[in-house]
Amino acid sequence: MAQYQIAVVVGSLRRDSFNRKLATALAKLAPADFTFKQLPIGELPHYNQDDDAAPAESVKRLKADIAAAHGLLFVTPEYNRSIPGVLKNAIDHASRPYGQSAWKGKPAGVIGTSIGAIGTALAQQHLRNILAYLDVPTLGQPEAFVQAKDGLFDEAGNIGTGSLAFLQGWMDHYVAWVKKHAA
Ligand code: FNR
Repeated sequence: MAQYQIAVVVGSLRRDSFNRKLATALAKLAPADFTFKQLPIGELPHYNQDDDAAPAESVKRLKADIAAAHGLLFVTPEYNRSIPGVLKNAIDHASRPYGQSAWKGKPAGVIGTSIGAIGTALAQQHLRNILAYLDVPTLGQPEAFVQAKDGLFDEAGNIGTGSLAFLQGWMDHYVAWVKKHAA
């Protein structure tokens, strides 16, 4: 059975991040042939084009992890109606040097949770714009704008019963998308 390795990028560095919890819980909804690795983006330096010729170890590791993955999963909060700067920084790092983007062609899913009622809708829309430019085929439907409220997770950190059917459906579509597009 083919194995699919997924590079997960969480757009929050917060210790108790809802989005990190969502990423971890979502991974448990995937079939056995999928494995998920959350990529550390917090220690990446600020992107500086001067460093393209001699990238930091953390940047090399990020690009290697993406290159080794069959698919991408972005799980992000919304900051001021867009994506957090740490996420954009990671995306920019792995997109360079020019012509050597690690993202190109990797099938992706975009999802996120926030305490606001629109559940990261605008952040996700901005992220889709970036991914389109980077030639990342991104799952269009179903969209998943998840409001972080009591009951989203159960005590074991799994998706709570109220959201389980919807998020299982999302994961099933994501799995099919990755299988369709993975080289
Ligand atoms: C927020 N938050 C927020 N929420 C939202 O729905 N829309 C928004 O535009 C913003 N903007 C925003 C900016 C900044 C700088 C912060 C720190 C927070 C609230 C956000 O949803 C909340 O802090 C989540 O808990 C962030 O996700 P994590 O860190 O829990 O994954």
